Amino acid sequence: MKLLFIFFLLFTIALTDGIPLGPTPVMPTESSNITVISALSMPYPEEIAVDPTQTFYLTGTANGYVYKVMLDTNEITTLLTPKDFNPEHFELWTDEEVAAYCTGAQNETYILEPICGRVLGIKFYTNAKKVYIVNSYFGIWEYKFKNHGRSRFNNIFEQTGVFLNDVYRIREKLYYTNSHTTVQRYSVINVVLDPNPVGQGSFNVFDMNTQEHTTLIDGLFFANGITLSSDKRFFYISETDAARVVKYEIATGETSYLVEDLPVLTDNIYLEKSEACEIREDSNERCDNDGTLLVPGYYRVEGLDEVLRNFSAMAEFLTQDFYTVVVPTFSSWIEPVGTICEVDEATGEILKVIFSNDFKFLLAASAHKLSDNEYITGSVFYPMVFRFQVNE
Ligand SMILES: *[C@@H]1O[C@H](CO)[C@@H](O)[C@H](O)[C@H]1NC(C)=O
Ligand SMILES: *[C@@H]1O[C@H](CO)[C@@H](O)[C@H](O)[C@H]1NC(C)=O
Ligand SMILES: *[C@@H]1O[C@H](CO)[C@@H](O)[C@H](O)[C@H]1NC(C)=O
Repeated sequence: MKLLFIFFLLFTIALTDGIPLGPTPVMPTESSNITVISALSMPYPEEIAVDPTQTFYLTGTANGYVYKVMLDTNEITTLLTPKDFNPEHFELWTDEEVAAYCTGAQNETYILEPICGRVLGIKFYTNAKKVYIVNSYFGIWEYKFKNHGRSRFNNIFEQTGVFLNDVYRIREKLYYTNSHTTVQRYSVINVVLDPNPVGQGSFNVFDMNTQEHTTLIDGLFFANGITLSSDKRFFYISETDAARVVKYEIATGETSYLVEDLPVLTDNIYLEKSEACEIREDSNERCDNDGTLLVPGYYRVEGLDEVLRNFSAMAEFLTQDFYTVVVPTFSSWIEPVGTICEVDEATGEILKVIFSNDFKFLLAASAHKLSDNEYITGSVFYPMVFRFQVNE
């Protein structure tokens, strides 16, 4: 009887509790002193990867392309197109036809996402000789840069019917996140506002030798960006809906939180290693965990926070007309302000919040630090890449 009662109680709590999102923290309101270096028009960039020569590569969520941008000249070239990811469909199309079909107003192209694909995570490996690219619809791909002749591009694995998001390679293992395991990206509002008391996202590993997939953590509330700790013992995984960063110990599978209740709903994360730590992913060297985690994300607006904390409110909200109520309300929740948190890797302490409500940078799905106080950000909700300096 007693056991039954406890079971009932737990069950009730699980069903009425919202996403594990704490009370809204003190939110930044005053803009940091920012000097814009450049603002490039780009198609809703999701993740940015910067190579050792300071060239950056970015994935465009408005059209399914991957671009390469030279930082010194801002010259933009196309690295990959939807034709590369979905050759069966586009085999007989010209590049112009593909571009005309896949590039357009964002709401139109949502419908085309399963055909044109959407490229999200992008990560270099082995000193930028290879890059791993996540196409949310067509799986994970490897692009190998060659000094002579053609570069090689091939599919590592396909995964359909899920919302694949980010990737990180160590040796023969590819770690990746599924933001949702049964819903695809075009239905992103339903992923953010999923009235399911158990998170539907997961953190997984694919063994390239055995070709086996293993789920390492499930029940995540919108699993998003991944990065590796400086000592290579942990992964940090961004959990967007819960505004926190999960810390996963590779050897034991132990899961804890590096930082909870951030002032942003987190997106991609990036580790700025300490100066002493210049080691490659494929070497055996390790550093101390004395880096700084860059955590860009979406400013926590009161209305959205309330709905995320309350599953019945979320369920109620989703029964309203999708195009006249749900979509516009959801859009109004995405405050067009830029927010990046810097988190101490060793302690999880928030060291700094870079904030802009003066249009110096707008929203941020990914952020890289290029040098002292110099940053580059991209956003799935705003078609620009901003490069700027923060004045102390
Ligand atoms: C912002 O930083 C610049 C450059 O350091 C400085 O000249 C300017 O006075 C600062 N503005 C404010 C409002 O602090
Ligand atoms: C959760 O939402 C429901 C439905 O809108 C509402 O009746 C209830 O008061 C809310 N609970 C809390 C704790 O805000
Ligand atoms: C874009 O979305 C709006 C609002 O849902 C809809 O009315 C409109 O028809 C859509 N535009 C196109 C071109 O599909």
